[in-house]
Amino acid sequence: MLAAAQAACTAPLLWAQLLGTAHRAMATSLLRVPPPEELLRPLAVPERLLLGPGPSNVPRRIQAAGARQLLGHMHPEVLQVMDEIKAGIQYAFQTQNQLTLAISGSGHCAMEAALFNLLERGDTALVAINGIWGQRAADIARRLGANVYELLKSPGKYFTLQDIEQGLVQHKPLVLFITHGESSTGVLQPLEGLGELCHRHGCLLLVDAVASLGGAPIFMDQQEIDVLYSGSQKVLNAPPGSAPISFSERAREKLLKRKTKPPSFYLDMGWLANYWGCDGEPRRYHHTAPINSFFSLREGLAMLAELGLETSWERHQTNCTQLCQGVLDIGLELFVEEEKARLPTITTVRVPEGYNWKDITAFLMDNHGMEIAGGLGPTVGKVLRIGLMGCNSSSANVERVLRALQDALRCCQRSRL
Ligand SMILES: *Cc1c(COP(=O)(O)O)cnc(C)c1O
Ligand SMILES: *[C@@H]1O[C@H](CO)[C@@H](O)[C@H](O)[C@H]1NC(C)=O
Ligand SMILES: *[C@@H]1O[C@H](CO)[C@@H](O)[C@H](O)[C@H]1NC(C)=O
Repeated sequence: MLAAAQAACTAPLLWAQLLGTAHRAMATSLLRVPPPEELLRPLAVPERLLLGPGPSNVPRRIQAAGARQLLGHMHPEVLQVMDEIKAGIQYAFQTQNQLTLAISGSGHCAMEAALFNLLERGDTALVAINGIWGQRAADIARRLGANVYELLKSPGKYFTLQDIEQGLVQHKPLVLFITHGESSTGVLQPLEGLGELCHRHGCLLLVDAVASLGGAPIFMDQQEIDVLYSGSQKVLNAPPGSAPISFSERAREKLLKRKTKPPSFYLDMGWLANYWGCDGEPRRYHHTAPINSFFSLREGLAMLAELGLETSWERHQTNCTQLCQGVLDIGLELFVEEEKARLPTITTVRVPEGYNWKDITAFLMDNHGMEIAGGLGPTVGKVLRIGLMGCNSSSANVERVLRALQDALRCCQRSRL
């Protein structure tokens, strides 16, 4: 019986034959759950142009880095790659912060790392909500037992310094959360003066830059941002699973003053700082890092360094402007009215009247091999979201998506109102 099973595993048969063998082996086996047929077929991954709000396409160079042979998570070569990632994040964030590293997880994981470490039960947090990301930050902060106050703005709008100051005066929070690139609405939040304002009111500034990093200017140190995080799969064009984060000296002091340990061991910045060589102590095992994701992130950051941040910002801005103009030219409307408030990485287009957004996204997927997305949170049913990020922010893609949209407007069914 064992021999038969082994033969089934090792014999170089086509999957169809393999299935037959597996089934015959089952007849005499103790196993009640047979080998799943779908796993005996080859992995299927079609070519697709990813122009949604993330992930974006992964260029060959980054794919190749992720496919390299594994090394141990404490091997000096891996620690070296981690140091290189740290330098790359310091460049991308424009910061000298020592406490800079990549969280082993997606953007949400970095959001949790920021909030889990900054907040303790009873601390007051003010969360600026103009889309889904503020809603989620408020949810996470409440789970931690923080006193959460919400500062609301309608989707499609950003917060002014006056809005923020009112909230700071009224609620005296320890932390302000705000989203730089609000990818559910397509809004770019101005950061100028925010850090200084927060500090004048004894508050730390926490900024979500998952959708904006590399696409819109951020100067963590000059803008006095205390905690900044991003993700790997948007402008950086790496697979999801490792998320840049950095803490200012002020934020680090708050961590040191905590009365209780952060509720997550996995996301404890004290442990992570040590593993990432940020605390001057010998590095200790904390968890087995996603080493291949680190290889990919390293290459994503290297490509950004080679291109140059300013060129990257400019490219996203000009290609986005071109897309916005094209959208208006084909008779569609943009969700964010004020031009300077448009996020250069993700553009929100109003769903044209009489159409169902799902028909349009499905049409692009089926007929153009292209992903764009519908709305999220407050914009569900109202917008289409088009992302031009990193290597996909190109004039060719602007043309492609505009042609595909026109095609969809012609072919998708339109209800008569
Ligand atoms: C995509 C995104 C996230 C979440 O990132 P995941 O990698 O999906 O966890 C958080 N914030 C913003 C602004 C985003 O655009
Ligand atoms: C989008 O990214 C993929 C992966 O790098 C690349 O192959 C493709 O050419 C890009 N699209 C365009 C037209 O820029
Ligand atoms: C769009 O990005 C490409 C790089 O892919 C760049 O060469 C081009 O100048 C940008 N387009 C515009 C209109 O600036």
